[in-house]
Amino acid sequence: MTLTGKARIAGVIGWPVSHSRSPALHGYWLGQYNIDGAVLPLAVAPEDLSLALKALPKMGFVGACVTLPHKQQTLTLMDDVDPAAQTIGAVNTIVVGNDGRLIGSNTDGFGFIENLRQSIPAWDPEGGSAVVLGAGGAARAVIHGLAAAGTGKICLVNRTESNARKVVEDLGDNIKAKIQVVPWSERSNELEDATLLVNTTSLGMQGQPALEISLARLGPNAIVSDIVYTPLETDLLAQAKQRGHPIVDGLGMLIHQARPGFKAWFGRDPEVTEGLRKFLIADLME
Ligand code: ATR
Repeated sequence: MTLTGKARIAGVIGWPVSHSRSPALHGYWLGQYNIDGAVLPLAVAPEDLSLALKALPKMGFVGACVTLPHKQQTLTLMDDVDPAAQTIGAVNTIVVGNDGRLIGSNTDGFGFIENLRQSIPAWDPEGGSAVVLGAGGAARAVIHGLAAAGTGKICLVNRTESNARKVVEDLGDNIKAKIQVVPWSERSNELEDATLLVNTTSLGMQGQPALEISLARLGPNAIVSDIVYTPLETDLLAQAKQRGHPIVDGLGMLIHQARPGFKAWFGRDPEVTEGLRKFLIADLME
């Protein structure tokens, strides 16, 4: 890859940042479209976040994506934030405006929904209720995305009920969907009406405990989705596949959430292809 003096440069801000797939993902698209630009990993410690963000326009960056542990703090350091980021309480994409202002958005919910739409074109977000496992940042984004897409009823199931209640408190008035909090112990029993089940917890991820749940009560056409992508086929997805449910893995959400940033920085809505998935899967295996 060669860059000219006119190259458009964006960053990936995280701490650590070495595990991030974003430089490879954006690099793939930049190569595909032969764009004079780069997305650089930037290891920024929490105490340096404010300084690093202020430096972006000063150094001519077109923007950045933001990963752990900075998404919440970044929200407080923007000049402008979009309504999704405000409601979710976190920023994952920054665009530097022509005037040097920092504009923060949250594309995680968008990524989740776009991945579902691309993976299962017949999915009707308005056609039933969703069960969401987990009440962290990812759950907030997924719930926000589902509500924006038209899902009217969401069951929120979390180990710590107070965290689920906090999500309802923070999101409730800002989204159209009705959220019902369900105890963690009831997670296998609350599936009868669901047309979509989503795991947003870290359970099932490599190195984490397994997600113990029975899908016996889930309707046969219900979609099962996991935002965990290491492994790509989690035990939840394997169980769902065996029972004949349509399944959606977490890699697609990671890819689709990156599209709005790429488009804003480099001027092109990038395609999500099988070639890109294969490239990232090979990257994950390393
Ligand atoms: P993120 O921001 O990526 O979503 P997070 O805020 O750490 O991550 O949230 C992790 C989610 O996984 C939470 O819903 C957490 O449940 P608690 O609110 O009870 O902490 C859930 N989780 C993590 N480990 C779990 C476990 N062993 N059993 C059940 N849920 C677990």
